[in-house]
Amino acid sequence: MRITVINGSPKGKNSVTLQYVNALQKTLPDCTFTTFHVAAELRMLERQPERLEQVVSEVQSCDFVLWSFPVYYTLVPGQLKRFIEIVEERGLTAGFAHKPACALSTSIRFFDHSAHEYLHEISERWDMHAFRGYSCHMDDLLHEEPRGKFLAYFEGVFRLSRERAWPRRRYVRETPVVPRRLKLPVPSMLQGPPRRVVLVSTVEEKDTNLARMIAYFKGCFPFSVSHFQLNEETLRSGCLGCLHCSVDNVCAVKDKTAGELRDALHEADAIVYAAPLKDVFLDGRFKMFMDRRFIDGHCPVTHGKSLGVILSGPLRQLANTRFLLDALADMFRMPLLGPVTDEDPPDEVVRQLTTMADTILRDTALAPSPSFYTVGGMKLFRDFVWANSALFPADHRYYKKHLFYDFPQKQVGKRLQNLGLSVAFALPQVRKVVWSKMIHYMLVPYQRAIEKL
Ligand SMILES: Cc1cc2nc3c(=O)[nH]c(=O)nc-3n(C[C@H](O)[C@H](O)[C@H](O)COP(=O)(O)O)c2cc1C
Repeated sequence: MRITVINGSPKGKNSVTLQYVNALQKTLPDCTFTTFHVAAELRMLERQPERLEQVVSEVQSCDFVLWSFPVYYTLVPGQLKRFIEIVEERGLTAGFAHKPACALSTSIRFFDHSAHEYLHEISERWDMHAFRGYSCHMDDLLHEEPRGKFLAYFEGVFRLSRERAWPRRRYVRETPVVPRRLKLPVPSMLQGPPRRVVLVSTVEEKDTNLARMIAYFKGCFPFSVSHFQLNEETLRSGCLGCLHCSVDNVCAVKDKTAGELRDALHEADAIVYAAPLKDVFLDGRFKMFMDRRFIDGHCPVTHGKSLGVILSGPLRQLANTRFLLDALADMFRMPLLGPVTDEDPPDEVVRQLTTMADTILRDTALAPSPSFYTVGGMKLFRDFVWANSALFPADHRYYKKHLFYDFPQKQVGKRLQNLGLSVAFALPQVRKVVWSKMIHYMLVPYQRAIEKL
């Protein structure tokens, strides 16, 4: 069986995920794997059409496509996202059509499901036969049980593929409808105190809906907004995955994203992201910028600042993206304003952009309740950073300083209480009496709290 591996790790040959592919190669000698490092070689693929055609021609003649990637910021790395966009822009998706495919990721299993959903949607959009992807914890290969399960899974997938027993899910067959051209009036300037508003946008092509929405939004403020377009000077590349920043939060890539833009984000009162939707998520360059925020990623440095989102494209048809925008705002503890999209008629877009500007000016965004994303995510990171404090000293210092290491075993009072209650409940009489009144006892602390209001 001939398998084409699309390696989406910016680390190329040094990818951890690729070691999982190497393990498959070793244990499945009747399979041959040919790997293309599409994320590491993105620039070459963008500049040399023949190199991209070589990838597609290999895909055309193979028996199976294996997407191999690390989870980056709840999705695939921006460079892999950009590769996918180039294949679409150059009309080469037909080369992938009708091929069986499966995604293999490594991560710490934080939003791995949304990254897999993205690649599954892309595979279906390209008319491939997509098997359910497999998400490995980055250390799975080092332990016998998860290693065995991973190897057995792919052996099974390749067997089913040989038997042409392809799965059928197909949620995303139709190409989303692109919104119509938007004509917006000249904005009326609002009044309010000076606030530091930082707008980060994909480089706007002139005369697009996105450019018009951005211009309208900026025009609402009685002062100038710090606007960073993600051109070469601002964003030289996506995240390299080098972990240079883990020591002291300094990025190895020297551009504005690591310097001026980062400082501006730290000092901002409100941050606004503006991007077009390409395929089924924000465009690849914007995703590269999001990945580069890894530098502050594990520390909530933007906590409490409003996050406005302005998008051009069919967001209402993209459930995974809608959910991820909510999740990202929640995890960074930022009140989400919008997203405003060009799916609405012009007067509604005007109303929403004005409301977003007004909320920022008057600082009236409501602080959202933390949800599972924040609480679950923080526990996962707490455990990860604690267990890898030597590799992530900057995060470790931050977590210690901000009392993030709130392990339950440290709660001595709670442990003593549980010990006492366990002993008491071992007596059947006590247990019977307490249990019969349990739901009333549970309310007592709440009632006391209400009395004190
Ligand atoms: C920029 C960046 C973003 C990351 N985002 C996530 C994430 O959202 N969820 C997660 O579980 N792991 C995340 N990770 C961890 C990687 O997925 C993990 O280290 C992976 O094994 C790297 O694989 P590779 O060596 O093949 O690139 C991130 C790592 C980096 C560098």
